[in-house]
Amino acid sequence: MAGTNGNRTLRLIVIDSDRRARVYVKRRMNGDGIRVIGEADNTQAGLRLVRGLQPDVVLLELEASASHTLETVKKIKEELPDTGIILSSHESSPQLILSCIRAGAQEFVSRPIDAGELEKAFDHMRKLLERTISNGKRRGKVLSVFSAKGGIGATSIVANLGIALAERPDAKTIVVDLCFHMGDLGLMLDQPPKYSLTDAFSDGSVDSSKVPAVVAKHSS
Ligand SMILES: Nc1ncnc2c1ncn2[C@@H]1O[C@H](COP(=O)(O)OP(=O)(O)O)[C@@H](O)[C@H]1O
Ligand SMILES: [Mg+2]
Repeated sequence: MAGTNGNRTLRLIVIDSDRRARVYVKRRMNGDGIRVIGEADNTQAGLRLVRGLQPDVVLLELEASASHTLETVKKIKEELPDTGIILSSHESSPQLILSCIRAGAQEFVSRPIDAGELEKAFDHMRKLLERTISNGKRRGKVLSVFSAKGGIGATSIVANLGIALAERPDAKTIVVDLCFHMGDLGLMLDQPPKYSLTDAFSDGSVDSSKVPAVVAKHSS
């Protein structure tokens, strides 16, 4: 997905009730450093797509009831803070643009959507994303493996998934067994833990500087 030095392809989801607008964006934007990976004609379906596909950028139509769209923007920013958001609207009063920015959108284009304007918005998004990555602030992903009953293989999946992810050259992976009474991930990986969760959280929190001190390094 990631290219080097500024040629990174942005993965885009378009949420727009107007089919013609979606077709226009796909036709004009797909290809040149941008890939439309999903589209939806309403915010509910759009939000599901965004959660599942975790795009770099969401292009979102500002609905007649702006507050509804702005709630969606807030939700996306809460769950996926690194996702860029571009809003499109027929109205472009300074007041409205201000509310969009306060909700968490980074860009605003007027409707009907114009490819030139959209390109400028994407250039801006690309710069913002590169800054996030070079600051090392890009957040990790949390995958939870949960079973409704003991002994059906949750720990086995975590051990294998953890090792498979650690093999990726760009990935740092931590596995945590949250089964408090009989966490056996260490046993399965033949890697005795250095510290327990109680040690890690002894002063009430754990931050990025403390993590390396409390995890045990596995040979994988
Ligand atoms: N796909 C599988 N087929 C057969 N046995 C399995 C499979 N996955 C796990 N096991 C075995 O089942 C037992 C329980 O697995 P474990 O991963 O500890 O489950 P859980 O964490 O859900 O309690 C272990 O002995 C493990 O080796
Ligand atoms: Mg287990």
